[in-house]
Amino acid sequence: MHSQDPGTDPRDPGPLGARLSLRSMGHFGSLTVVGTGFLVAGQITPESLSAVKAADHFFFLVAEPATRLFLESQHPGAESLHNSFWEGRPRQQAYDEIVERLLAPVRKGRDVCVAFYGHPGVFVYSSHEAIRRARAEGLAAQMLPGISAEDCLFADLEIDPAADGCQSFEATDFLVRERVFDPCSGLVLWQIGALGVITYHLHDLWNARGVDYLVQVLGRHYPLEHGVVVYEATHYPVCDPLIQRTNLGALAKSTINTHSTLWVPPLAKRAVDAAMLARLEASAGLA
Ligand SMILES: C[S@@+](CC[C@H](N)C(=O)[O-])C[C@H]1O[C@@H](n2cnc3c(N)ncnc32)[C@H](O)[C@@H]1O
Repeated sequence: MHSQDPGTDPRDPGPLGARLSLRSMGHFGSLTVVGTGFLVAGQITPESLSAVKAADHFFFLVAEPATRLFLESQHPGAESLHNSFWEGRPRQQAYDEIVERLLAPVRKGRDVCVAFYGHPGVFVYSSHEAIRRARAEGLAAQMLPGISAEDCLFADLEIDPAADGCQSFEATDFLVRERVFDPCSGLVLWQIGALGVITYHLHDLWNARGVDYLVQVLGRHYPLEHGVVVYEATHYPVCDPLIQRTNLGALAKSTINTHSTLWVPPLAKRAVDAAMLARLEASAGLA
């Protein structure tokens, strides 16, 4: 089913949308990837909600039931992707299956929208891969921005990443690739509850001992007394975020789960290179 008149179709985003929908640009058979943020209906952008409503086929993968109910109320055919995951299944298999589930209706000329929680392009393999494959097949695809866990972290912990810089790594990647980073800038580590685990599980913390390795490695760069925060954005407007302030040495005693993100504040301020500053000021005509 496709809109003939974008102005009168109630599912069409209309002129206030931030960008033209793929359908209004004349694409039939398209993929639009959106994010729901973390607050049921509170953090999905108007642009993304318009894309959900306008889709012929709508899929979603979210972290809790209230968002699921909200999304089901926005599209009569809303289909959850959760059944691609089960205990012990290699996650990569599930991700690849999701890509194919998304693309199958697009190949039949349907306008498909998929919603992932948070930002749809932040630590979401299937969204990027589906867009890559769609484009490779000559199909239209786009991603709309959303609110990520890191965005919520900056707001809830009142951190301005401009103050000292901020580095963001997937925690297993950080360990196994020995990522080079600056402890005098902030550090965000994602997926600290799933260190080294490539399968899907129903329980909350997938590798408790992995946290000990993380502490060992971070302990080479920070004192064990260095304060850190295990952070969990709230999914519900009536609940506060979970902010566990501890120190690095006691990290393993915190409640960590697969939704936890670790914030490691910067050590000391880096000294300013006065010669570089002078050169810059001179180049701007200030000196
Ligand atoms: C597969 S990634 C999904 C990220 C998501 N797309 C986003 O934009 O935030 C899962 C990781 O995101 C982070 N995360 C997910 N839910 C979170 C929450 N409620 N609070 C803080 N971090 C969260 C955790 O680091 C978790 O291991």
